[in-house]
Amino acid sequence: MIGSTVGVESGEIESVPKGYNPGGIAPENEVISSDKTGEVVHHATITHAITEPDADHENTGDRKAAMASLLAKYETLVLERTNRLLGYPVNLDLDHGTALAWLQRFSLNNAGDPFIGSNYGVNSRQFEVGVLDWFAKLWEIEKHEYWGYVTNGGTECNLHGILVGREIYPDGIFYASQDSHYSVFKSARMYRMDCVIVDSHNSGVIDCANLKAKLLLNKDKPAIINVNIGTTVKGAVDDLDLVIKTLKEASFSEDRFYIHCDGALFGIMMPFVERAPKISFKKPIGSVSVSGHKFIGCPTPCGVQITRLDHITAMSRNVEYIASRDATITGSRNGHAPIFLWYTLNLKGYGGLRKEVQTCLRNAIYLKDRLRAEGISVMLNELSTTVVFERPQDEEFVRHWQLACQGNIAHVVVMPNITTKILDEFLNELIIKRSIWLQDGKVQPTCVAVDIGKENCACPRHKVINSSNT
Ligand SMILES: Cc1ncc(COP(=O)(O)O)c(C=O)c1O
Repeated sequence: MIGSTVGVESGEIESVPKGYNPGGIAPENEVISSDKTGEVVHHATITHAITEPDADHENTGDRKAAMASLLAKYETLVLERTNRLLGYPVNLDLDHGTALAWLQRFSLNNAGDPFIGSNYGVNSRQFEVGVLDWFAKLWEIEKHEYWGYVTNGGTECNLHGILVGREIYPDGIFYASQDSHYSVFKSARMYRMDCVIVDSHNSGVIDCANLKAKLLLNKDKPAIINVNIGTTVKGAVDDLDLVIKTLKEASFSEDRFYIHCDGALFGIMMPFVERAPKISFKKPIGSVSVSGHKFIGCPTPCGVQITRLDHITAMSRNVEYIASRDATITGSRNGHAPIFLWYTLNLKGYGGLRKEVQTCLRNAIYLKDRLRAEGISVMLNELSTTVVFERPQDEEFVRHWQLACQGNIAHVVVMPNITTKILDEFLNELIIKRSIWLQDGKVQPTCVAVDIGKENCACPRHKVINSSNT
């Protein structure tokens, strides 16, 4: 019997958690939105239409000048937005411009297996393998025991990790906490896996008692489990050791489960956080992934996926057309991304990354403390730089600071480019605007106890309880 959901094919299950809100920043220029039936409709104002050049190409100079002017405006816009991007975990402190600008002249493509050559010679495989090796060492797996590749992002990593699990256990049941990223549920849908959604605590951490109960309902089937090393909205880190212990308590031996660790953001930060649980292939895990454009700061989306070599052998196929083997999700693969990753990791090293992680943790505590001092509901998980707080009541403000929102909460993810100066600017504006939204105390702030716990809620009721407890 399956737990809280049944097979996707039946159409009965909700593969995303209840209350999941796909919204966030409203689309620019109302280009795409949902109508009342939930159908996606387009009513775009096309400001950047592509037009046909004159047949005689006489006005090429004018065209190029018009394009340059449009691009210059765009550059200003992106620059301005870069300084106010608080809600999404991307490190915008990029430092490769001068050294790597020349790469744009080349169409680098790493299609196929990074460890095997290809007839497409304009590739960056050597850099890719250098990056993979760095991560393999970080996550404690020997050179001859691992396989991996640089993906197009955290989503592709999840698609790959979950696919490996399903290939090993075709009849396995997939378990993921309700706080998992939407790509996790998308993977389950795409692979038509039976998916069981596990409860989370208010912090966002997986509830292992609930996991155990659901595992026990499905004892006859192997388990494929997604473990979050930093959830998207609350920055919660699942307790990997407790998940493994729970599996064993439910009588799942190591040959009957597969664990994929989704470390999109914190996968690279955790090794540099004191007291953080260790992500290591010395534990019975199958794959670990991290996004490359998040904390590391690659200018194009990318990710790193590491798994065990013996899992991959069965999935890999010879492809004559590219004269390589393939066990990846896509065909063509970004050849620029591995070089950006290689460059940054080489430049910063463990010492540089550790320093950045510590600064982010410090700045996140600074933001949390200031919000709390202002009487605003706020939560910051230990080991996290994701500061969760009451949702600002003005969508214009949300859009201005590019905050990510879900229900009654919003968050700021403190990345290396988010300085205390930027946080002060944000806080000062929030405090002024909030007193307008709350009409100088006439309107009460929303209760967010169900989202972030009573102890973090500053609504009038919980404020009284919390202050009497201190
Ligand atoms: C926990 C988690 N997993 C996966 C992803 C997907 O990563 P990407 O946007 O790189 O596809 C995200 C993105 O925010 C995430 O937070």
